[in-house]
Amino acid sequence: MILFVNACVRSDSRTQRLARALLEQLGGEQEEIKLSEANLEPLSEERLRKRTELVERRQFSDSMFRLARQFQRADLIVIAAPYWDLSFPAILKLYLENIYVTGLVSEYAESGEPHGLCQARKLWYVTTAGGPYVPDFSYDYIRALATGCFGIPETELVMAEMLDVQGYDAEAIVAERIYEIERGML
Ligand SMILES: Cc1cc2nc3c(=O)[nH]c(=O)nc-3n(C[C@H](O)[C@H](O)[C@H](O)COP(=O)(O)O)c2cc1C
Repeated sequence: MILFVNACVRSDSRTQRLARALLEQLGGEQEEIKLSEANLEPLSEERLRKRTELVERRQFSDSMFRLARQFQRADLIVIAAPYWDLSFPAILKLYLENIYVTGLVSEYAESGEPHGLCQARKLWYVTTAGGPYVPDFSYDYIRALATGCFGIPETELVMAEMLDVQGYDAEAIVAERIYEIERGML
């Protein structure tokens, strides 16, 4: 199953267009989670306490872990998020806090290092930026989590930049990237 984590906000999101082109190329069974409609809750003290108790009892069947289970069992993962304030919309961080469940997506090795438990063999991070895509506090961070904590060996960035800069043809830049995606040229 391919999991599409959709952190795009605008209805005519360019990031989402790139992600849909990629998903079309990947084919197969897909599940989408649209973060803006997912009613994600922050980890309050009460929720943290409940989560810790459930993790200690290894009760991962609890509904609190539904999204973490979905993330853990995905074969491929596509995350799409616009470049906001040098990273990504806060709702994606909220999602990551919700799915990063020790014992389910990651565990600690004896050395103290995280050891990933996710099944996915690859994660794509899709983003678009209004100006230049620097500095990169989004893909680099996602890649560190994926490879260092979740056990996902391969990651890839799909990106289009300069979309809001005067003199740049945003539509042409997006179309070119979609052309490359459709021909596997990334
Ligand atoms: C809240 C917000 C913050 C943004 N921050 C940045 C930024 O730090 N750097 C940048 O280059 N563009 C920034 N932009 C522009 C977006 O990255 C750009 O318009 C992007 O293509 C939006 O993606 P979308 O079409 O998928 O919504 C920001 C836009 C918004 C709405």
